[in-house]
Amino acid sequence: MPFAPLADALRRALVDIVGPAHVLDDPSITGGFARDWTGRFAGSTAAVVRPGSTAEVAAVLVACAGAGVAVVPQGGNTGLVAGGVALGGELTLSLTRLDHIAPVEPVSAQVTAGAGVTLAALRRAASAAGLDFAVDLAARDTATIGGMVATNAGGLHVIRYGPMRAQLVGVEAVLSTGAVIGDLRGLLKDNTGYHWPSLLCGSEGTLAVVTRARLRLVPRPAEHAMALLAVADAATAVGVTAALRHSLPDVHAIELMTAAGVGLVCDTLGLPPPFARPAPFVVLVEAAGAPGVLERLAATVGVIAGVDDTAVAVEPDRRAMLWRYREAHTEAIARLGPAHKLDVTLPGPALGAFLPEVSELVTRLRPEARVWLFGHAGDGNVHVNVTGVEAGDDEVDAAVLELVAERGGSISAEHGIGRAKLAFLHLNRTPDELAAMRAVKRALDPAGILNPGVLLPGG
Ligand code: MLT
Ligand code: ZN
Repeated sequence: MPFAPLADALRRALVDIVGPAHVLDDPSITGGFARDWTGRFAGSTAAVVRPGSTAEVAAVLVACAGAGVAVVPQGGNTGLVAGGVALGGELTLSLTRLDHIAPVEPVSAQVTAGAGVTLAALRRAASAAGLDFAVDLAARDTATIGGMVATNAGGLHVIRYGPMRAQLVGVEAVLSTGAVIGDLRGLLKDNTGYHWPSLLCGSEGTLAVVTRARLRLVPRPAEHAMALLAVADAATAVGVTAALRHSLPDVHAIELMTAAGVGLVCDTLGLPPPFARPAPFVVLVEAAGAPGVLERLAATVGVIAGVDDTAVAVEPDRRAMLWRYREAHTEAIARLGPAHKLDVTLPGPALGAFLPEVSELVTRLRPEARVWLFGHAGDGNVHVNVTGVEAGDDEVDAAVLELVAERGGSISAEHGIGRAKLAFLHLNRTPDELAAMRAVKRALDPAGILNPGVLLPGG
């Protein structure tokens, strides 16, 4: 449907709802809200509206639905697929003021957090209560809980705890009609029909606006230990990953890097190389659990074939230093210019062959391009980042994602479809599935104002 620009009457209504300080329409201020983190996608927004409560979110949505104005919900704007930025003059609904964290409830080890709470703030609250939040990712200081629910964020510990969906016990969300659905009671067992947390988690703001989440917390491990393992090739890296999964009792993270990526991070951030001789592939493994973690990690790594060198860390500062090699990939690659970020999962047995194959494929298509492979080897999720290709040139994206689908993988492991992968969703979803998804969208968002053009082709 065509959407009208922000009319004076709607602007007045929005100011009445949230107050004049929270309706921003100066382009010099709103421009940053309409540009995604990668810099690959930039547009414009009619206004940024910042509600301070669930009731204000509901009133804003009713006003926008009445005026036929499209709304893009936005959290910390750390998304990588243009799913949370207005590109065509839509209104941006910024949820960052919903930043209240209720006291941690110790009996069930759960907490209720507003959509605008950052991951780092949530982790601090969990830690102060002697607990931990299971999802962690590099954008923790900016990424918000609402956005993480909307995208079913994955991150570093999926292999142990599952993604955001596995942490979400309850949700409160607002439909474009203004109706508030869901509950925050924290019931682990509740078979009373359609499960809103399951449906809304990963729906990328197309069905409802998440305002609060009820989240499970996990015990804080007593000890951590980690190691970088140098290996010779992709097949060995996948073999080492499998061996760690099978025999390491406290496995907390298994990540993958290549010599090129580690070299780029070292050059960009001025870090010393982790090994005396550069390793073609590096597996990062972290274990966390009851006392004796280092001994158990050393015993496991000691009998795995194919590990040519190791760098070990136990103390927090040294662990943070080793994690920098992996976590700084995003930042280091971004400094080369807008990257094509293809976030894919392969079935375990297909991963080893896919890694060299995808590099060769990209180089064949665009000899001038650079391919950066890194990711969460433990769960089969590899981030194929390509630099040196025009932002609007989708040929490499198409070829890589077709290869992923042929190998039985997913074209989006954790970042979502957004707009960046809209044209490729058919590789993973049948026409019947897409029709069913559109029917759900129509039922929950009859006005069609929530994030149109995101996730659903033609929707
Ligand atoms: C990561 O694993 O570092 C994130 O998904 C971000 C990225 O893909 O750049
Ligand atoms: Zn990732």
